[in-house]
Amino acid sequence: MAFWGNVACSLLFVSCVVLLSCDARYDPNWGSLDKRPLPQWYDEAKLGIFIHWGVFSVPSFSSEWFWWDWQGKPLPGVVAFMEKNYRPGFTYADFAEDFTTEFFNPDRWADLFAAAGAKYVVLTSKHHEGFTNWPSKVSFNWNSMDNGPKRDLVGMLADSVKNRTDLHFGLYHSLFEWFHPLYLQDKSRNFTTRDFVKMKTMPELMEIVNAYHPEVIWSDGDWEAPAEYWQSQEFLAWLYNDSPVNNTVVTNDRWGNNISCHHGGFYTCGDRFNPGTLQPHKWENAMTIDKYSWGYRRNAQLSDYLTIEELLATFVSTVSCNGNMLMNVGPTKYGTIPPVFEERLRQLGQWMSVNGEAIYSSKPWTHQNDTVTEGVWYTMKPGPVVYATVLTWPGSNLTLGAPTSTSATVISLLGFPGNLNWKPASPSGVIINIPPIPINKMPCKWAWVFKMEGLSN
Ligand SMILES: *[C@@H]1O[C@H](CO)[C@@H](O)[C@H](O)[C@H]1NC(C)=O
Ligand SMILES: *[C@@H]1O[C@H](CO)[C@@H](O)[C@H](O)[C@H]1NC(C)=O
Ligand SMILES: *[C@@H]1O[C@H](CO)[C@@H](O)[C@H](O)[C@H]1NC(C)=O
Ligand SMILES: *[C@@H]1O[C@H](CO)[C@@H](O)[C@H](O)[C@H]1NC(C)=O
Ligand SMILES: *[C@@H]1O[C@H](CO)[C@@H](O)[C@H](O)[C@H]1NC(C)=O
Ligand SMILES: *[C@@H]1O[C@H](CO)[C@@H](O)[C@H](O)[C@H]1NC(C)=O
Repeated sequence: MAFWGNVACSLLFVSCVVLLSCDARYDPNWGSLDKRPLPQWYDEAKLGIFIHWGVFSVPSFSSEWFWWDWQGKPLPGVVAFMEKNYRPGFTYADFAEDFTTEFFNPDRWADLFAAAGAKYVVLTSKHHEGFTNWPSKVSFNWNSMDNGPKRDLVGMLADSVKNRTDLHFGLYHSLFEWFHPLYLQDKSRNFTTRDFVKMKTMPELMEIVNAYHPEVIWSDGDWEAPAEYWQSQEFLAWLYNDSPVNNTVVTNDRWGNNISCHHGGFYTCGDRFNPGTLQPHKWENAMTIDKYSWGYRRNAQLSDYLTIEELLATFVSTVSCNGNMLMNVGPTKYGTIPPVFEERLRQLGQWMSVNGEAIYSSKPWTHQNDTVTEGVWYTMKPGPVVYATVLTWPGSNLTLGAPTSTSATVISLLGFPGNLNWKPASPSGVIINIPPIPINKMPCKWAWVFKMEGLSN
């Protein structure tokens, strides 16, 4: 009875919240915009795939900042690379025609991302170089239809991703462009004029939202100018009130100097943000499989890529602390996703197929990691059910300090039949007896999840 009473109460509560959020209109100021509840799908999703793809994928050397590192604030290694390998007078724009994408198969990409267990995909619609991966009406010959691929890369991937029921489509977009003359002019005027925003940034953002209905807008390139220059608050008010994705879209926090980590949708703070402690505001760890670059690098070594053990450690610590992980791959200029990335994605998917119960739709627990054993990260589900993900295989006994057991406590290992023996530890916690499992019966190869029901905390 009490149970059904609670359910009825929470249903009533949920529908009120839903009604309120439907009726709410947002004003173009942070006080109002920050009140918008984050659409629920995003917190439930936990894992997204980030894709850095653009003209920088052609030199595929150094990083996606190649142009800046060559001609903005030159790095000796990048300058030497150009001198050694390209004719004098070669410009960055000359790389574009070699952005051929002849093997791009968006259905295969979408299938791979789904197989990784990801629930959303975020593609660079335009990075700081300014090249748009869609036929933008405000781009003059510096877009994927007029130049290079000769097709709408954003539209093609959007169609394939949206056609998969469990995958949301999102777009990264850089507010600034390193070398755009209008941007440089506004900047030289200390951002007292807004010509670049009026003629480029804002029309572009409206274009991608209206044409592709992205459910994530992942903004970047904001830091040189205040949000008032970018008109970020006006854009977000339109996005939340009147855009075709008004109710489902999520946004990040990179909307102007000193905005990130303070305002917006989910917080990304810095790149690879992973605080290791519970964060009250929903956040995202945007990180890369290649430790040194977001764009593809032809000269990467195997040791430059995170191992599956490192990826899982990053992932479970992120989720335990109220974060999502947005894991980046850098496709080649041919449109392929190199096999090293594919292997990591499929490994993660294999792990999720056994352990996804501890991840999707989970909430942070009262403890994020264990109090006595290192490398143990907790999540929880209603019940309550507490999950402990253990990064190192424990041997014969696993001691956990955080759980408080009762006589009704039941402990199991995800993917392994039956319950495990355990006893209370002193002064608190549990000691789980690990059965001798034959190697061919191990539920997975990395990071094992212990499920605990009937705890008193
Ligand atoms: C969309 O999905 C349906 C059903 O899975 C499939 O038949 C169709 O070919 C897909 N279309 C595209 C463009 O992938
Ligand atoms: C921009 O700001 C700097 C530092 O405050 C100042 O020295 C400069 O004169 C300003 N330039 C313009 C065009 O307002
Ligand atoms: C806002 O979202 C609702 C529900 O998805 C939709 O019916 C409505 O058309 C959207 N508003 C606009 C202006 O597209
Ligand atoms: C940055 O923003 C925060 C929150 O709005 C504010 O408390 C802080 O003073 C700002 N810092 C700077 C350097 O402007
Ligand atoms: C738990 O995490 C915190 C914060 O990351 C860390 O300081 C602490 O050492 C961890 N505890 C154990 C037992 O590893
Ligand atoms: C593990 O626990 C069992 C049962 O409590 C005990 O008999 C055994 O000695 C323990 N093994 C180790 C290595 O502590």
